[in-house]
Amino acid sequence: MASFLSHFLLPFFLFGLALAATESGKVGVNYGRIANNLPTPDKVVELLKQQSITRVKIFDTDVSVLKAFSNSDISLTVSLPNENLTAASSSQSFTDTWVKTQILPFHPGSNISAIAVGNEANTDPNLVPKVVPAMNNMYSSLQKYSISNDIKISSPISYASLQNSYPPSSGSFKQDLIDPFIKPMLAFLKKTDSFLMVNAYPFFAYKDNSDQISLDYALFKPNKGNVDSGNGLKYDSLFVAQIDAVYAAMALLKYNDLKLVVTETVGASSENAAAYNGNLVKRVLTGGGTPLRPNDPLDVYLFALFNENQKPGPTSERNYGLFYPSEQKVYTIPLTAAQATRSVAPASANNATKAVVPKSGQSWCVANENAEAKKLQAGLDWACGQGQADCRPIQPGATCYNPGSLVAHASYAFNSYYQMKTRAAGTCDFGGAAHVVTQPPNFGSCKYPTGN
Ligand SMILES: *[C@@H]1O[C@H](CO)[C@@H](O)[C@H](O)[C@H]1NC(C)=O
Ligand SMILES: *[C@@H]1O[C@H](CO)[C@@H](O)[C@H](O)[C@H]1NC(C)=O
Ligand SMILES: *[C@@H]1O[C@H](CO)[C@@H](O)[C@H](O)[C@H]1NC(C)=O
Repeated sequence: MASFLSHFLLPFFLFGLALAATESGKVGVNYGRIANNLPTPDKVVELLKQQSITRVKIFDTDVSVLKAFSNSDISLTVSLPNENLTAASSSQSFTDTWVKTQILPFHPGSNISAIAVGNEANTDPNLVPKVVPAMNNMYSSLQKYSISNDIKISSPISYASLQNSYPPSSGSFKQDLIDPFIKPMLAFLKKTDSFLMVNAYPFFAYKDNSDQISLDYALFKPNKGNVDSGNGLKYDSLFVAQIDAVYAAMALLKYNDLKLVVTETVGASSENAAAYNGNLVKRVLTGGGTPLRPNDPLDVYLFALFNENQKPGPTSERNYGLFYPSEQKVYTIPLTAAQATRSVAPASANNATKAVVPKSGQSWCVANENAEAKKLQAGLDWACGQGQADCRPIQPGATCYNPGSLVAHASYAFNSYYQMKTRAAGTCDFGGAAHVVTQPPNFGSCKYPTGN
């Protein structure tokens, strides 16, 4: 705890003083487990502690996970899955039992601070009318067991619940969601002193409108910004503009001061995810609120902790992790206020941005130092053989033969293959023996190709 405090609070405090700033936001991570190769929950808690991650959201109330978090100083948001929403909406005896068996045995040893009742129920018309009754039952159950002050109840909505989001000041909710869902939910959140949960994926909006939205604006990089034609406020990132559209939509229904937490957000491809998440974290930890709500800190949960190999859908779905199942970082971003403030030290803002991603889209593939030799060799053989990577430079006497280590040679071959495949998702894996980095690899005097 002591080292955690000095790591986190001191720089936070100094930074706060220096700017006389509003409270900074907080960063958490979604810990999904749709995979068969993840570390045990106990090991995951160790990893989170090492990274000073203090807020985690999970998608269920798995016993082994809840147990692992006991006495960990990590606060948890747990979830009632959509498949249980109907039961929860129809009777308080269901939520009583659920709270008694899923929450009470673990709290407060495991610090459960919020329950997400369902997830993105706005996307399923059958679930829409169930959400608020389920939230009400859940609240009554928390009251029954005298924990309604410790644990907040909310229900993540997806960004698709907005009708308008551009310009942000014209934000509004979809008409058909307002009466059956949004209005009663906002009333519930206000009554119980809770907050709106929003899953925001600005990168998808960028991809659909890349003729109108610049990549720099989507990735929090320096850009000329966008002025809201409705009120003249200036936005320097799509993410912040999206959040203000939600605030505006709430204001339209006369909810002007309800808090909001971004419960999921992510960039798209591996390279852009590094820039998006890295710059987002810096923005959250050092940048104050939004133009519409300058005094409300931005709280976000990144998506997600691990690459999850059993998620269905396109390859990108399985590659949203900050970490590989091996616990190696997929890329390096600041995760604490200390790291974030260090990287925005005076006059080094540009260099700091470079430290995250040297140039838009640049990345390399390297071997995991801790991977088994057998795996590295198999990957190396495959890349130089069937993979048709250019392995001439690692032949004896050639420019990248030294250093002659397996890790160095495998890295060269993996990167060659990765660049040849234009850094497509899934081309830097080699059975878990490789990962993407956003800094040029450094092995002796060998120069690693970049595709661009
Ligand atoms: C539990 O988490 C909440 C929210 O992060 C925090 O405010 C509170 O101090 C924590 N409680 C304990 C006992 O650690
Ligand atoms: C939630 O729903 C699933 C699927 O229908 C079911 O197997 C599970 O038992 C339900 N959970 C509870 C606590 O009833
Ligand atoms: C930024 O990086 C350049 C080149 O790496 C270095 O010379 C310069 O001192 C750095 N500036 C700051 C403010 O750190």
